[in-house]
Amino acid sequence: MIEVFDDWSEHYRKRVNGRLQLVLSSLRSHVGSDARLVDAMAYSLLGGGKRVRPLLVYAAGELAGAEPGQLDAAAAAVEMVHCYSLIHDDLPAMDDDELRRGQPTLHIAFGEATAILAGDALLTEAFTVLAQAPQTQPDMRLQSILMLARASGGNGMVAGQMLDMSMEGTQPSTAQVETMFALKTGALLHASAILGVLAAGRGETDPLYGKVSAFAEAIGLCFQIQDDIIDVTSDTASLGKPQGSDAARGKPNYALRFGLDHARQRADDLYQSALAALADCNHVAEPLRQLGAMITKRNH
Ligand code: IPE
Ligand code: IPE
Ligand code: MG
Ligand code: MG
Ligand code: MG
Repeated sequence: MIEVFDDWSEHYRKRVNGRLQLVLSSLRSHVGSDARLVDAMAYSLLGGGKRVRPLLVYAAGELAGAEPGQLDAAAAAVEMVHCYSLIHDDLPAMDDDELRRGQPTLHIAFGEATAILAGDALLTEAFTVLAQAPQTQPDMRLQSILMLARASGGNGMVAGQMLDMSMEGTQPSTAQVETMFALKTGALLHASAILGVLAAGRGETDPLYGKVSAFAEAIGLCFQIQDDIIDVTSDTASLGKPQGSDAARGKPNYALRFGLDHARQRADDLYQSALAALADCNHVAEPLRQLGAMITKRNH
């Protein structure tokens, strides 16, 4: 185990980037592959990003006793679903944003039709990657596929994005906003950590599964509250996406709706709950705890 968190996270960022490059070269090598489509997927997949979801896979997987080689497929798959969600989230019909990870958004760089299709392909290919995870037990592989599909689909992220749009220009309650956050953002972060546990061969009845699940549920909600806070308080250069985008579009932003102090307090309470879920875990849980800290304190 790498002891210093910055070294740990950099090591696994590089590791997942390598795996994503392999996915792209495999796509390019197939007869019938479309160079422009794969270029667009590569632009999104390799254009930076904090890699929080893959890091959750590695941190939770390490805690559960998996070898890194058992975690690479899940780490790549969750980043692929995430990148698809960013591409579609930025489209003119949704948040209509022109900057992502410090670069023009995919629809600005490649056109809207290619952006939609690159998103579709990333989502679908994520499941190809997961289904082919060679080192995961077949029953755990099936559970991982189900977990990621549920977190992403019509009762998960997509439902959350739908709720997000329906709340534009309205005055939703705290509970309504938190339900929407848990779906649009929390579900994929939660699934990422759980995929790490499943890759270690530890299913729902294992006590560690429950602990990681409780950690990830709290930190998933905290993640979106912090995203809303920094949309208000940070700057475009640090964010790599347009500061103030939520206010400009009448989005249901937590800090704008309930006040910055309340948002900060709620994010910290969730961070404390996340830590409490790991209270009786030993030092092997440190990367997961540090990831929680990074999510809560980040300015981008
Ligand atoms: C942004 O996610 C989208 C949300 C779910 C709030 P990240 O903040 O993880 O974006 P990248 O991957 O680091 O660019
Ligand atoms: C996005 O929430 C959630 C997704 C499912 C992508 P936001 O719309 O707040 O994410 P950013 O701020 O554009 O990254
Ligand atoms: Mg959005
Ligand atoms: Mg957005
Ligand atoms: Mg945002």
